[in-house]
Amino acid sequence: MEILRTVPEIRAYAAAQKKADKTIGLVPTMGALHEGHLSLMRAARAKCDVVIASVFVNPTQFGPSEDYDAYPRQFEDDCRLLAEIPVDAVFHPEPAEMYPRGYSTYVEVAGDITKKLCGARRPGHFRGVATVVTKLINLARADEAFFGQKDAQQVVVVRRFVTDLNLNVHINMVPIVREESGLARSSRNAYLSAAEKEAAGVLSRSLRKAEASFRQGEKNAETLKALVLREIQSEPMAEIDYVELYSFPDLEPLPEVTEDALLAVAVKFGQTRLIDNVILEGGRA
Ligand code: PAF
Repeated sequence: MEILRTVPEIRAYAAAQKKADKTIGLVPTMGALHEGHLSLMRAARAKCDVVIASVFVNPTQFGPSEDYDAYPRQFEDDCRLLAEIPVDAVFHPEPAEMYPRGYSTYVEVAGDITKKLCGARRPGHFRGVATVVTKLINLARADEAFFGQKDAQQVVVVRRFVTDLNLNVHINMVPIVREESGLARSSRNAYLSAAEKEAAGVLSRSLRKAEASFRQGEKNAETLKALVLREIQSEPMAEIDYVELYSFPDLEPLPEVTEDALLAVAVKFGQTRLIDNVILEGGRA
């Protein structure tokens, strides 16, 4: 597995793959890899000739009061996991390699999709994501890029700028990987105390409950959201940020689930904010 740390190194690597007519799959990550990330790597491995993972804690997507400094960094452990997939190359730049002195260019998805859900609570977050993902797709010359459904709004935003900027890459969304308790895998789970982790099981339980009700015929968005809210409120350690339902992938308000819908939650346990979601398959209107 090659470790690439600079822009010239990843450019040369990607150019050699293209010259050999290989398809390139990119899996962007911020490291602290877990089973969720590894499922993205496996999906890329199955679909592409060459897999490039990036491990980069991207400063531009963190707000001033967020966890950029505390975000777990464990590059050697990450490399061990990536080598087992196996991934062909890892891009692990320093922040100054991606954002050198004088850096001034950002990709911003205007419009409503970045103004709701996590976008409403984390100003600037999706601008940072869109900027770094555009740069990574460009550097890796990716034909395919892989993202997890846990960050479903991120997938919507990435698909938007890929379409709008005519980037020649296909965006794959890979299902959520869960722990036995149902808790969605996340690098931020490492911040949870044992009690918080147990309490956080309420997220997937609440979503499963709403999904079951939907399958039994409940289509009303307010009723489905209320089911999730009630279940989460039964957990004293949970501090709800949002419980929302929008059409998917357009993220439009949807009073009745008559088309595919994203039922999404963000909840704090202690200092740790977790997100989770389920896609309700309402078919196309
Ligand atoms: O989902 C993430 O880990 C990050 O937002 C990403 C896509 C790697 C961009 O920094």
